[in-house]
Amino acid sequence: MSNFVKFGILGCGPRGMQMARVLQLLPDLAALCAMSDTDPVNLKKASREFSGVSFYDSSDALIESGLVDAVITEIPPAVHTEYVVKALDCGIHVLGEIPAVDSLEEGRLLWEKVNSSRALYMCGSNPHYRAKTALLIKLKEKGLIGKVAYIETEYMHDMRTCNDEWRKTYETCRYCTHSLGPVLRLLDNDEFISVACMSTGDHFNCGRDHNAMSALLKTRKNVVVRFLTGFALPYAGPAHTTKIYSEKGILELRNESARIWLEDLNGFSARREFLEIPLTPQSSDRPGTMKILDEGLFRAASYGHNGSDLLMVRDFVEAIWKGSLSPIGVKDALAMTLPGIYAALSAREGGAIQQIKYPWT
Ligand SMILES: NC(=O)c1ccc[n+]([C@@H]2O[C@H](COP(=O)([O-])OP(=O)(O)OC[C@H]3O[C@@H](n4cnc5c(N)ncnc54)[C@H](O)[C@@H]3O)[C@@H](O)[C@H]2O)c1
Repeated sequence: MSNFVKFGILGCGPRGMQMARVLQLLPDLAALCAMSDTDPVNLKKASREFSGVSFYDSSDALIESGLVDAVITEIPPAVHTEYVVKALDCGIHVLGEIPAVDSLEEGRLLWEKVNSSRALYMCGSNPHYRAKTALLIKLKEKGLIGKVAYIETEYMHDMRTCNDEWRKTYETCRYCTHSLGPVLRLLDNDEFISVACMSTGDHFNCGRDHNAMSALLKTRKNVVVRFLTGFALPYAGPAHTTKIYSEKGILELRNESARIWLEDLNGFSARREFLEIPLTPQSSDRPGTMKILDEGLFRAASYGHNGSDLLMVRDFVEAIWKGSLSPIGVKDALAMTLPGIYAALSAREGGAIQQIKYPWT
């Protein structure tokens, strides 16, 4: 197919480089045309790896170059919205990195800009495309989960040696979309309405503001969600885990595997043991008869973030081609990002409960 989308990537840090490699795995859909970075060292590194690409020391120059149809914002969270808005104002489609915004004011701005733009905005929430999320949604659609009462979701990633300046003081509860995004997909037609959050501070003198942050959120339909981020703790991560307590049983989801006990699946078993489902191709013992898994998704799982980055870019490009609704639009983006900003406000006030408001309420 010749009408591939011409991409520019803003930011040549680890994530920008990863997404550039992902685009090169999709030559029928995407062409990597331009990259930008304000740091000359990272820009040089990218220019050594990628040929046939134009390099810019400013994202404004890339956006104004006329070379690209779409950009991916692989820059620090504090400047995501600024460049999403600049690109949309130039009619350039945006695959916007998470977290979608950095403040409540930016939330309102993004809402207005995306809703009045002729270009497409998609939130780059790759966990929506993880095998574990696909499995969760299949189980839900088959009526195997029923109503949900309580959820625990954690993102553990030891980043104490990571040198990015923004990560040193970043309130990690704001890095919430990887955890809350899939939860909101499960709890559709619901949203978070209040949150209380506490920070541990730094117990280990590791140069970070805190070792972990723990938040308790409540949804409009009264589902309670405990959300933990631990980015300055010794932990063999990155690990995303979610434990769902429902009317029909328990689901424990990890990137690599799921462990489930649901009445209609496990109830027939004499020992009533949990069902273990490997979710990566390395696991050769995946049950061959587990038809609820999406086989295409499973086979694609050996690329960036177990295939999720590829599937996300594919959906973004297809939505541009078809002129269809954004696969993960601005409402989804803010519904999974703003609760983390309110959690940070709560932690600054020692855990005081915050009522969560959205631009559409
Ligand atoms: N979806 C995911 O799975 C995932 C994974 C990792 C990181 N991320 C997100 O991706 C983004 C980048 O992460 P990272 O780990 O590469 O961060 P990083 O800080 O290591 O790299 C960011 C790069 O952007 C550059 N930069 C800063 N301002 C810029 C600007 N205005 N224009 C161009 N370049 C600019 C910096 O010099 C740096 O090279 C972050 O927002 C992070 O939240 C998402």
